Amino acid sequence: MPYPDSTLITNIAELVTNEPDPSGRGSFAAIVDAALVVSGGKVAWTGAAARAPAADQLVDAGGRAVLPGFVDSHAHLVFAGERSAEFAARMAGRPYQAGGILTTVAATRAATDSTLRANLRRLAGEMLRQGTTTLECKSGYGLTVADEQRGLMLAAEVTPEVTYLGAHVVPPEFAGDVTGYVDLVCGPMLDACAPHARWVDVFCEDGAFGADEAAAVLAAGRAAGLVPRVHANQLAPGPGVRVAAEAGAASADHCTFLTDADIDVLTSTPVVATLLPGAEFGTRQPFPDARRLLDAGATVALATDCNPGSSFTSSMPFCIALAVRDMRMTTQEAVWAATAGGAAALRRADVGHLGVGARADLILLDAPSHAYLAYRPGVPQVTAVWQAGRLAAGSPL
Ligand code: NIG
Ligand code: FE
Repeated sequence: MPYPDSTLITNIAELVTNEPDPSGRGSFAAIVDAALVVSGGKVAWTGAAARAPAADQLVDAGGRAVLPGFVDSHAHLVFAGERSAEFAARMAGRPYQAGGILTTVAATRAATDSTLRANLRRLAGEMLRQGTTTLECKSGYGLTVADEQRGLMLAAEVTPEVTYLGAHVVPPEFAGDVTGYVDLVCGPMLDACAPHARWVDVFCEDGAFGADEAAAVLAAGRAAGLVPRVHANQLAPGPGVRVAAEAGAASADHCTFLTDADIDVLTSTPVVATLLPGAEFGTRQPFPDARRLLDAGATVALATDCNPGSSFTSSMPFCIALAVRDMRMTTQEAVWAATAGGAAALRRADVGHLGVGARADLILLDAPSHAYLAYRPGVPQVTAVWQAGRLAAGSPL
């Protein structure tokens, strides 16, 4: 008897499963000459192609690689306008400053719902076609009660992983009154936003929010049922990683400038270190030291940070290529970080791997191994994408 409503994908040269080893430690794992059975939207069987069970439908992978769909755990997709001139000026030598965010805030406030929705859907569609099957999406370009709530409600149309980022920067109407703005973020804005979000985030950085302010935002978010995550140590060393750990955050994101004490925090607590190499590319900063984190034993995730200012890429393959080439991650470490690592950063056990019982979120590469994602940078190699067992983009043919 075949599994009910089943599809067998066979003739897979390399099937990346990311199944944890017996100790439970997460690391890259793959089966060569493999097959996989999907049933009821989940992975029902994986193993050697020669031993594959019968199924209702057959897909021939043609000697190509199958991977878990990418889990992009950090993105800002609800915004209007663009900042290509700011990017060009940066490439001509001007430094990146957190204040550029306010340009996008003004454009976002002025935009209609349908403009924001169209932009959001376009970017989410780009992500899907490049293999991202789970994405996180933040507010943070509204910064009024109504505009933050609107951003979250729009984000919830494309993902359950919605993050309240009212504390992105202090908006102009609160200039010089950080305390007043933090009170709004922790009070009426949180009341309006918490029902529409799973996570609370804060940009903990000079020019944005300091340690005490960030801790207050995260504590208020927690009290409202949200789980913290933090923009930490992006532009300079600072308290972000420590604040993240003290708040019980799922993830500290950026981690570009870390002290030894920060590394100790990231290896001795469950906080995932989420690296966003698109932001270093787009701001021409030094890349984070992934090797130091991995060698110390930290859990590392990779994400795009897709946003119109610092990192306007929607491509996880691009981030994998940067991580391998410029952050000295192995191809296996980078693929794990872009799948299972992202799932860890979102505290999701059902995605990021292809163990039996996982959601059948998977991608077929037009290549025989995962290494091609970095070996052939910039080349569209994601041929087909399935979400919960349904073909969502491309074609396996
Ligand atoms: O993750 N760091 C804060 N937020 C974004 C930048 C957003 C922007 O420049 O518009 C980031 O890099
Ligand atoms: Fe960000």
